[in-house]
Amino acid sequence: MTAVATTSPSDVVQEPKPVRASGPTPDAGRSPGTDPAVRSRIAGLRCKNCHRPEAIGPHFVCPACFGGLEVVYDRDAVRAQVSRAAIEARDPGIWRYLELLPVDQAPARGLAVGSTPLIRADRLGADIGLASGRLFLKDDTRNPTLSFKDRVVAIAAARAVTFGFDTLACASTGNLAGATAAAAAALGLRAVVFVPASLEPAKIDHALSFGATVVPVEGTYDDINRLSLEIADEEGWAFVNVNLRPFYAEGSKTLAFEVAEQLGWRLPDVIVAPIASGSLYTKVARGFEELVAAGLVEDKPVKFVGSQPDGCSPVAQAFASGGDEIHPVRNPDTIVRSLAIGSPADGRYAVALARASGGSIVSVPDGATADAIRRLGRTEGVFAETAGGVTVAGLEAAYRSGVIGPDDEVVALITGNGVKTPDAKWYGLGGSADEARAGVPNHPGSAGSGGLASPIEPSYTAFARAGLA
Ligand SMILES: Cc1ncc(COP(=O)(O)O)c(C=O)c1O
Ligand SMILES: [Zn+2]
Repeated sequence: MTAVATTSPSDVVQEPKPVRASGPTPDAGRSPGTDPAVRSRIAGLRCKNCHRPEAIGPHFVCPACFGGLEVVYDRDAVRAQVSRAAIEARDPGIWRYLELLPVDQAPARGLAVGSTPLIRADRLGADIGLASGRLFLKDDTRNPTLSFKDRVVAIAAARAVTFGFDTLACASTGNLAGATAAAAAALGLRAVVFVPASLEPAKIDHALSFGATVVPVEGTYDDINRLSLEIADEEGWAFVNVNLRPFYAEGSKTLAFEVAEQLGWRLPDVIVAPIASGSLYTKVARGFEELVAAGLVEDKPVKFVGSQPDGCSPVAQAFASGGDEIHPVRNPDTIVRSLAIGSPADGRYAVALARASGGSIVSVPDGATADAIRRLGRTEGVFAETAGGVTVAGLEAAYRSGVIGPDDEVVALITGNGVKTPDAKWYGLGGSADEARAGVPNHPGSAGSGGLASPIEPSYTAFARAGLA
């Protein structure tokens, strides 16, 4: 079929159109237009920059100032329609928070996304210097395609279906490709995903497993993003993070909703999150804000700490400069491919959030990232991909600089699984990954130091002779 036309500055509808009412069917005497308990929760789209309103649709850019669009809710209607009890009575997964999401009804089909564990991480916390019971890991390595991207894709894909698209696409730094491919498969849509040609083979293979067309592009993520804009317009495809970006971005709020619910409907003192485009980082803050506005949690200050790799840290650099201008990084140079966005769409908003919340945005060397991946695995049994290493290394840096105190209740968002970047953890140990694996010192009996032993004969004598007893 021919898909719905995508947005270009000239074809955006100027005035917001009414959208379908959500919630219970209005009964006699209750007007859907005025009663917050029945009127639509979703008010429309709005420019993040100049606040110009737009209608709900596959629109993503403001025709007046070219700023990005975001979803606006009728907060009175949300407050009237949502409750802790209703959320708690629902099945696990992101759709338990339906009233806080930009979809009228929970989709009947799709992957089981969200409700990932919040793990108390005392051993890692002690290693860093935090008091007992103060560090938690939001383990988003356990989503269907092993990263938090399943959350954002689920929302964009649900909207793609309601808008009538038949092809789901994305411009990916890696994890988004798998998430888009799997969501499309589950919904019976076609998937075409665009990735940097230099991407880790495990991530390409992952997307192929779901029957997607994978297009490696000789260029950076920013080159792919520009190409995607053109293809979205020409082909009428639903690019989850381009023309469906306002809806896609809302998916990251579900991390905030889950963290608050898992803490017993409370907000933590600190969130530590990785930053690529800055969407996840800023939308977790928005999620907390909306929980407060809906009357689901008490308001309290939350510091937002963001982390980037040294080899692609335009947002951390802007934060450190004291200004708010983001200088794009033309050629990212880091093992952290998942965060290699040189021209981050939400960089400016991320810097503003770090400053307003008393947090910070740090950048960490690749060696510290690899070390943090190993340390996280060793102390907590969680195997993270490179973005998770950046988060843990960023947490340590923020602790050392005093932004995070020993008694702060900290939630670190571990957003991707290490099986996607199996060699990254050996970075900086010298030689190839195989050499590093063999070279890890093996001191039997000393807790925490593992390593690959030499093969042994299947006998106890051989085992004892190898010094493993
Ligand atoms: C595992 C992982 N974590 C975090 C991010 C950062 O996402 P954002 O672009 O929303 O800042 C990405 C982006 O690709 C990612 O793959
Ligand atoms: Zn605007």
